[in-house]
Amino acid sequence: MRLRRRVIRASFVVVGLSLLAAPATAQSVNRAAIDELNAQLLYVALPLTLFVELTLVYVIYRFRNNDDPKPTVDDPALEVTWTAATGAILVFVGVSAFVVMANPYITPAAAEASTDGGDAFAEDTEIDVLAYQWGWEFSYADANVTTEERLVLPADQNVTFRLQTTDVIHAIYIPQLGVKQDIFPGRTMTARTHATEPGEYRLYCAEMCGAGHSKMDATVVVKNQSAYDAWMENQTTAAG
Ligand code: CUA
Repeated sequence: MRLRRRVIRASFVVVGLSLLAAPATAQSVNRAAIDELNAQLLYVALPLTLFVELTLVYVIYRFRNNDDPKPTVDDPALEVTWTAATGAILVFVGVSAFVVMANPYITPAAAEASTDGGDAFAEDTEIDVLAYQWGWEFSYADANVTTEERLVLPADQNVTFRLQTTDVIHAIYIPQLGVKQDIFPGRTMTARTHATEPGEYRLYCAEMCGAGHSKMDATVVVKNQSAYDAWMENQTTAAG
């Protein structure tokens, strides 16, 4: 039984390491929802994986010298049980994923479609994002301010991005804020976030868009309200 003990010990190490690898506090509402789903599914998947693998290892070990194997007997109750159990797990995974997908920060288009003609995010800070080969332009419509390669966001506020491209398909991707959205020519796409942690993050293009694709990035700066207001003031006077 030393092998069995070793396998059990190894699985504890795997579980321990995966807990250590759990991300620190999320930097946005989107990211928190995604991380939560990830953890939720991990806690379902880990015991199942361990159960299956340990059973497999045990059976291989237990019957390693079985020279007279017998055919498996039909067991309808067992078959119904494992089919139903698998079904229940899949439904759980599906529903959890769907709930996160339907989150108005993760899929704002769905939330917009459900309000009849009205602006679902009228209270949000609205930023027009223009993607082009190869760079980013951010316009703050209310303030008449435009920046290049530098996206400044207010912390603890809902932000809506109106995304457009001047040429080919690009994709805005801010992993730490849980933002990712393809941008198609001739259409205005919507993305949303609500950053909770002031700091600097990276923004990437996540759609292969030509020779300059890998250089098509920008810095995202999340500022608390007073710092954001001061920055905006500064930009406005600089522009004027
Ligand atoms: Cu734009 Cu890749």
